[in-house]
Amino acid sequence: MDFKDKVVYQIYTKSFRDSNGDGLGDLRGVIEKLDYLRDLGVNYLWLTPFYKSPLNDNGYDIADYLSVDPAFGTMEDVEELIAEAEKRGLGLMFDMVFNHTSTEHAWFRQALAGEKKYQDYYIFREGGLDAPPTNWESKFGGSAWEYVPELGKWYLHLYDRTQADLNWDNPEVRGELKDVLRFWKAKGVKGFRFDVVNLISKPAVFEDDHQGDGRRFYTDGPHIHEYLKEMVADADIGDMVTVGEMSSTSLDNCVRYTNPAEKELSMTFSFHHLKVDYKDGNKWELQPPDLGRLKDLLTTWQLEMQRAGGWNAVFWCNHDQPRAVSRFGDDGKYWKQSAKMLATCVHLLRGTPYVYQGEELGMTNAGHASIEQYRDVESLNYYRIMLEAGKTEAEALEVLRQRSRDNGRTPMQWDGSPNAGFTDGTPWILPPENYQTINAEAELRDPDSILQYYKRLVQLRKEEPVIAAGQIEFLFRDVPEVFSYRRFLGTQDLFVVNNLTGHEVTLGDVPWAGCEKVLGNYADASKVLRPYEAAVYKACR
Ligand code: NOJ
Repeated sequence: MDFKDKVVYQIYTKSFRDSNGDGLGDLRGVIEKLDYLRDLGVNYLWLTPFYKSPLNDNGYDIADYLSVDPAFGTMEDVEELIAEAEKRGLGLMFDMVFNHTSTEHAWFRQALAGEKKYQDYYIFREGGLDAPPTNWESKFGGSAWEYVPELGKWYLHLYDRTQADLNWDNPEVRGELKDVLRFWKAKGVKGFRFDVVNLISKPAVFEDDHQGDGRRFYTDGPHIHEYLKEMVADADIGDMVTVGEMSSTSLDNCVRYTNPAEKELSMTFSFHHLKVDYKDGNKWELQPPDLGRLKDLLTTWQLEMQRAGGWNAVFWCNHDQPRAVSRFGDDGKYWKQSAKMLATCVHLLRGTPYVYQGEELGMTNAGHASIEQYRDVESLNYYRIMLEAGKTEAEALEVLRQRSRDNGRTPMQWDGSPNAGFTDGTPWILPPENYQTINAEAELRDPDSILQYYKRLVQLRKEEPVIAAGQIEFLFRDVPEVFSYRRFLGTQDLFVVNNLTGHEVTLGDVPWAGCEKVLGNYADASKVLRPYEAAVYKACR
């Protein structure tokens, strides 16, 4: 499957478009908007989970991998969506959450009912109420273990207590999950996104972590490469486009996950570049983004993946991240320029770009000012944890305003009508107040909009083979404000320069002098780089 010259668009189903007025986005809502997506020029649509679920983690807590939650629609809707997308040249990628299931999954219920076979599907450990098997922490806060008094056992949950980790060392579990892949492949799906898939292989021995929260024992775990190879081969998905979400992973492992000779995945998401504004690595402590570090991380991952034959998914945004323009750009004075600049930075890198719904409009953080407006389980947990640790309500709210995953989950801003044209009912989460100016309808009309710029970037990938197939080298590496690189292939050269800051930067001699500018966020030419300026030059060798 070809994925290097493609662009993927991520749809957070619950917030994309509500077709029936219940306040939740749904599959028919996605069908309604397929023409918009075709016109954007993207190739694949990654849909976040719509399977049967109690929705404690918005569908990442799956109760049945093979059925559709009524909140999102029906199996007929899925089939129609696949067929309608295909008519428009769009392939679907479905989200496979294989590290854990909901505790409402039939397997877990049977485990709770005492069936040994299903207890072996999960990670249960004997122990008394006062002694969890290890001191590991859940990624959503608190212990990673939950006690079941009737069984006298604990089960592992790296996420919410209603998301029980599966036991991948059990071949029956691996067999069940391969069947899930076969089922969706037979429906005509073209690819898969694997949720936190580098956490599936747990260590043989469970021990306390005296240096951290336990992640070093199960991240890129002992059998991870073996399990991925087996899954891809047995479920026969090697010809599909696959992306693994890799939590706290390493570059070496991502090379192995994505080098075609390994026959594991097409590409990986890694997140190190999205932690440069975490103070001392702590998401819940604020600091301005460290631009030098951001640049270094992107550069290192690009060069090493190139050297060793791996492939990156390149992106700023998804449903777990605050909005990039609010975080790394300027969502006030230089809103338009900085959103376009950020798009330029990642789309022309060596890798497959992902556009997260609304990013192409320059959607901003939510701006939610009271705790009642937040919905995310992680945000609500950490709000409590921050208060317990001594932060004031105002301080904790400020952290959420910048860090909550809800910033990326507000309704897609379709137009200036109430609720941004997302729903005729009451939206499950409020849109930011700016939807009357930042919306798809307005940006389709404006030739200079962020949306039109994204279209141009996507188009450029189709016109210039160097973007998908070329090599990369980095320029001005010692200038922290500037992210610049050269793409090259045969006699083709493309120079990309981005000013990451809101002030002017002068570079002196530049290798693109005299070259044709093919794209940029300022219409005229200038010797100095203006605030958040981005420019792309085609070389003249
Ligand atoms: C990563 C998903 O993107 C996130 O939304 C979810 O909460 C966790 N994995 C757990 O499934």
